[in-house]
Order: sequence, then C-alpha cells, then structure tokens
Amino acid sequence: MKIVTTAAEMQALSCRPEHRRVLVPTMGALHAGHVSLVRLARENAGAGGEVAVSIFVNPLQFEPGSDFSRYPRPETADEEVCRAEGVDLIFRPAPNEMYFDDRSTFVEETALSEQLCGRSRPGHFRGVCTVVTKLFHLLAPDAAVFGEKDFQQLAIVRRMVRDLDFPIDILAGPTVREADGLALSSRNQYLSAPERAQAPVIRTALLEAAASHEKSAEKVLVSVRKKIESASLAQIDYAEIVGADDLQPRLTIGPRSLLAVAVFFGRTRLIDNILLE
Ligand code: PAF
Repeated sequence: MKIVTTAAEMQALSCRPEHRRVLVPTMGALHAGHVSLVRLARENAGAGGEVAVSIFVNPLQFEPGSDFSRYPRPETADEEVCRAEGVDLIFRPAPNEMYFDDRSTFVEETALSEQLCGRSRPGHFRGVCTVVTKLFHLLAPDAAVFGEKDFQQLAIVRRMVRDLDFPIDILAGPTVREADGLALSSRNQYLSAPERAQAPVIRTALLEAAASHEKSAEKVLVSVRKKIESASLAQIDYAEIVGADDLQPRLTIGPRSLLAVAVFFGRTRLIDNILLE
C-alpha cells in the first residue's frame, strides 16, 4: 500500500494511470461505513484496478466554532483499516499541501446547497465541492464513492460532476448502521453514554414515517418531530421532506420523496435520511 502525502507526488502518479482507479474520499477516523465504501470501490475497480482512499480533514467545510480541531485523526488505525481492506493507495496530505494561505478560488454549487444542511452550515458545501474538485484533479479517478448517509453531499457532488464535465462515475454506498439502527458516523464517538442510548430514536422515527404510508408531508413531519422530541436529549435542527433529486420541499409524498433529519445530541449533530417511496 502506497502512502502519498504531497500534492506534487500525487499529481505525478496520476499522470498516466495504467489501471482503473476508484477513489473513496474520506476525512479519516475510518469505520465500518467507510469499509463498505472501500469494498464497493474494489468491486468497481476490478481485481486489476486500483482503490485509492483520501484522508483529509478539510478545514474549508467546517464552519467557525464547529468541531474542526477536535475531529478525530487516528492515523495508524486508519492505515490498518486500509491495509486490511487491500487499499492500494492512501492520499493523506497536510492542510498546507491542499491550500495556499492566500487562496481565493472556490467551487460552489448554488441550488441544492441552499437546502437542508446548507441552511445550518453556511459555506459547508462550498468547502466540500472545493476539496472534492481538488481531489478529483490530483487523483484523476475513473470513479468515486460517496455514502448515502450524506445524501445531500452525494446529490451536490453528482450535480457538480455533471455541470463541470468531470469524466468520473459517482457511485453511492448504502448507509451502514449499528445493530440498534444508529447510522455509523465518525462523530458518534463524541456522544456521551446517555446521548448514545437515545440516538437510535432518529432511525426509529424515520422507519415509523416510512411505514405509515401517510401522503401528507405535514402530518408525517409532525409525527417525526414528536417521536424525536420524545428523547429528552434530542434537539431537532431540521426535519424535512424533499424530492430526492432536487432537494426541494414536497407537500405531498410521492415517488422519490426523501425524509431527511439533522438532530443535535449535546454539541454533536447527527444526520440521517430515508426514501419514503
Ligand atoms: O464525507 C466526507 O467525509 C467529506 O465531506 C469528504 C467527501 C471527504 C470531503 O471532505
């Protein structure tokens, strides 16, 4: 397994790729959710192809006052996960390899980014689009894998790839969950024991909504909020029903209606979603 830490070396290695390369962009603190994305990447790359994992805690996508400095960075454990999964290449640059102090160029998607998490995290998706663009340039992958837990991010990356003509297939990996339904996230480790015990209420609320077959988005959202608020430590950031492709609010539930929620437990913000039809 090759570990590359400079942008120049990475770009040189991407110059004339001999194999299909599939990239899994991550911020590290790798867990079983990332492992499932790596396996999807391997399937897509084929035995003779190359699976690359980028590990970079991207300062640009953390809004001021958020958890950038305390975000976990377990380098050795991440390397072990990648080695065990047969990853061919890790790209793990330092922040000064990725950004000049006087940077003044950003990549911004301006429609989907306005919805859902974009409202509570101004600048977040601009940071994501900028770093993903840079990773795409530096690694020149044939395909890249993103998780469905970050549904909005996936939709925005797809839109960006379409709008900016990146010759890269975007693959979606299903959300991986704990046995009690909590979606795996590097941020779950911030939860206190009582918060962790209550956090599965998110998944329960989403499943109950999907099982209700109710067509009124308003009614579904009232039930979802009531269920989540039954957990004393939960504070809803948003609960919305949107179209899965345009992320615009829906009043009536129909094909590809997506229920998406963000919920704070203490300072930890968890997101999850479910397709209702
Ligand atoms: O989903 C993530 O971990 C990050 O947003 C990504 C795609 C690696 C960009 O920093």
